[in-house]
This record gives sequence, C-alpha cells and structure tokens, in this order.
Amino acid sequence: MAFRATCLLLLGSASSANHGYRSSRPWLPRDMPKDVVTAEMLVAEDDLPENFDWRNVNGRNLVTSDVNQHIPQYCGSCWIHGTTASLNDRIKVMRNGQFPDVMLSRQVLMNCVPSPNKSLPPPGCDGGDPWMIHQYLKEHDVPDETCMPYQAKNMECTPMDQCRNCLPGHGCWSIKTWTGYGVSSYGNLSGEVAMMKEIYARGPITCSFATDDEFMMNFSQNVMEHEGVYSTKKTYTEDQVDHNMEVTGWGVTNSGTKYWVIRNSWGTYFGSNGWVKLERGKNMLMSEADCDWSIPRFEGLDEVLAGKVLGSYMAGMTTKVESEKLKETLKAPKFKTLPTVLEQSRSRTQESALVETFRVFQVALVALSLLAVGYAAGKLRARRDSREKTQPLLGHDY
Ligand SMILES: *[C@@H]1O[C@H](CO)[C@@H](O)[C@H](O)[C@H]1NC(C)=O
Ligand SMILES: *[C@@H]1O[C@H](CO)[C@@H](O)[C@H](O)[C@H]1NC(C)=O
Ligand SMILES: *[C@@H]1O[C@H](CO)[C@@H](O)[C@H](O)[C@H]1NC(C)=O
Repeated sequence: MAFRATCLLLLGSASSANHGYRSSRPWLPRDMPKDVVTAEMLVAEDDLPENFDWRNVNGRNLVTSDVNQHIPQYCGSCWIHGTTASLNDRIKVMRNGQFPDVMLSRQVLMNCVPSPNKSLPPPGCDGGDPWMIHQYLKEHDVPDETCMPYQAKNMECTPMDQCRNCLPGHGCWSIKTWTGYGVSSYGNLSGEVAMMKEIYARGPITCSFATDDEFMMNFSQNVMEHEGVYSTKKTYTEDQVDHNMEVTGWGVTNSGTKYWVIRNSWGTYFGSNGWVKLERGKNMLMSEADCDWSIPRFEGLDEVLAGKVLGSYMAGMTTKVESEKLKETLKAPKFKTLPTVLEQSRSRTQESALVETFRVFQVALVALSLLAVGYAAGKLRARRDSREKTQPLLGHDY
C-alpha cells in the first residue's frame, strides 16, 4: 500500500522534473563562422545507407560507456551528458577506435561552463544547452573523468575542482596540468536528412527532446506495442523541450517504421541497456528541431601517446615553477618536473650504458666477495684442524 502510494506520488510529480535542458538562444546568438564545414558539403542524400549505427560499424563498436546523470543525487545535467556522450564518441570515431576510450569530465563542465548572467554561478544542475558547452570548449580545455569524477552537484571552477589528487598525510591538492580536450569547430542543425548526413559524415550529434511523463514512466509499455520503437500521437511545443540526448544512428523495423538510435543518460536500467529507439521522420518529441555538432580536439592525448609528455603523482604534467611551488607546500620527496622527464627520455641511451657498466662492476664485486669468504673459511678450517690435533677436545670419549 505504502509502496503504491509512493509510486503514484512519483508519477504525479514527474512533470516537474526538467532533465537539465535550458535553451541559451535568448542570450547566445547561433552565429556559425562563414567558413565552417558542414555535413551538407560532405555527404549526398543518396549516399546515406538505410541503417547506420556507430555502435556497430561493420562489427566494430565506436561508442564509449554509459553513465547516469541522477546519482549520487538528482541533477538536471542532461545538457552536459548529451554533449559529452557525442564528444567522447566522436573522439573514438576520429581515432578509429584506437586505445584509449576518452570520457570528458562531466563535473568540470558543470563547474566551469558559465551562466549567461555573469553575476550568477555556473548553472550545472540547473540546466543549459550544448551550444554553451561547445562555445566554452572552443576557448578552454577540460580534463577527463580521472581528474574530477561526477558528483551531481553545483561546485565552482577552481583549480581544485578541475583536477586533483590526494595522499595520506598530505590531504588533497590541485593538479595544475593534465591532458586537455576541447573543440575546434561547432554548429547547430535540424531536420531528418541533415541529422543523418552529420552523423554519417562525422559522428554522433546531440539533440533536444520533450521527454514527458509517458516517456519517463511508461517507456517500456509504449515500445512493446511498436516493435521496440517509442512512438506517440501527441504533439509538442518548444517550451516543452526539457532534455538532451545523443543520437548515434538510425534504422528501419521489419514493418517499415523508421527510427533513431539514441543514448539516454539515465543508467543502463532505462530503456534498452540505457538506449532508446524513437520514431524517425515525424519530429517525434521535437527530436528533429534542434541538434548540435562539434569537432573535438585532442592534441594533448596525441603528445602523451607519442611519449613526448609524462606525468607524476604529485605534480601531474607540470612546469618547473609550478612543481617547485608544490614541492614547498607538500614537503614531498623530490619529484620530476616535465622538463626533467623530457631530458631523461632524451638521454635514456646514455643512461642505459651507465647502468650496464655498473652491473659489470657489481658482478665483479660479488665474485671477489665470494672468493674472499671461501679463502677465510678455508683458513678457519685449517686452523681448527691443527688445534684439534694438538689439543683434543675435553671430555671427548673415543
Ligand atoms: C543577474 O543576476 C542578478 C542576481 O540574481 C540579478 O540581480 C540581475 O538582474 C541579473 N541580470 C540579468 C541581466 O539577468
Ligand atoms: C541554428 O539555430 C538558429 C537559431 O535558432 C536558427 O535560426 C538556424 O536555422 C539554425 N541552423 C540550422 C542549420 O538549423
Ligand atoms: C502509463 O500507462 C498506464 C497503463 O497503460 C496508464 O494508465 C497511464 O495513464 C500511463 N501514464 C502516462 C503518464 O502516460
């Protein structure tokens, strides 16, 4: 009885849940640079296949892991989740699936993407849209999840809340330099064919949706009646748009219903392992009205993978000045600064020659000690034997 009451209460109040979409259009104009390359220039409509999904491109998966925006507590951060999902997957696509999978820090974007009103803190859990994130990432870098995990709450854009490490006896400190990710270009688009072209040419996109109570609470019932595809006869208006999700592909059911392949950010227990199919070509849930794309940058990762940059526990990848300051505050044992690390990797051949010489010396030393020990033992035995001959042990009974 009590359980049922809770469920009804949840259903009754669900419409008040905004998943975290708030349009920045009223204060942020959508002006794309004149020279920006769009998918319209890259793909012709005739080239688009009937089915396409970045989770399975000729048997290869080119998307990253699933997450949940609502834990450890409710947070309206769908704008962060829908956008990072596309960025992570586009990095994977651009790198042709090579190691490693990258997950941008959702919490750092929450902490740092600014509010339109400069006197207000970053919106975080209070909502925003992909354009705000792309605009920020054009000028700034963010680290990955290992610098700052998702906490589902509003924090600040301090060094400590962008990347940190901790150690018993030292507390926690900010890591000043890390591998950063941003975007080199971005834009918005709308309409079924434009969406398909962009996805096919360059990777997943992020779109906005009106995800009402039926989508939230009755998703399973709905799709069971439509071959696994969510479909509704209801129509929506712009002011009902409340959610961002990533669109990674499309297809057609056996009976001919066209659908989108969409990643949600409500955990893998929602929909089909966290993903949904939504009817395509009908602007269902306003899905085809407003989408965003961007081209990720990851030069920092390339440098690390090429062995040009290394990091340390205390300083991360840092400059000499920064690490000197850290050394003082932490009174830590000597740690290597970036220039030292680089120098070392350059002089590795000299170093290994030195190590070789030292090893030969060590072997000689061990051999000499063994000889000396053997000689001393022999001497002792000889002395004891002579003593036994001249002076038989007392009480020894033959
Ligand atoms: C910005 O926020 C402050 C504090 O809430 C408010 O007083 C001010 O009117 C806001 N400015 C704009 C332009 O919205
Ligand atoms: C991008 O958004 C602006 C502002 O809403 C709109 O006027 C424009 O048509 C959109 N661009 C595309 C390609 O849909
Ligand atoms: C969910 O489905 C049930 C049973 O089919 C129905 O009674 C209820 O009105 C639906 N709720 C929503 C929000 O669509």
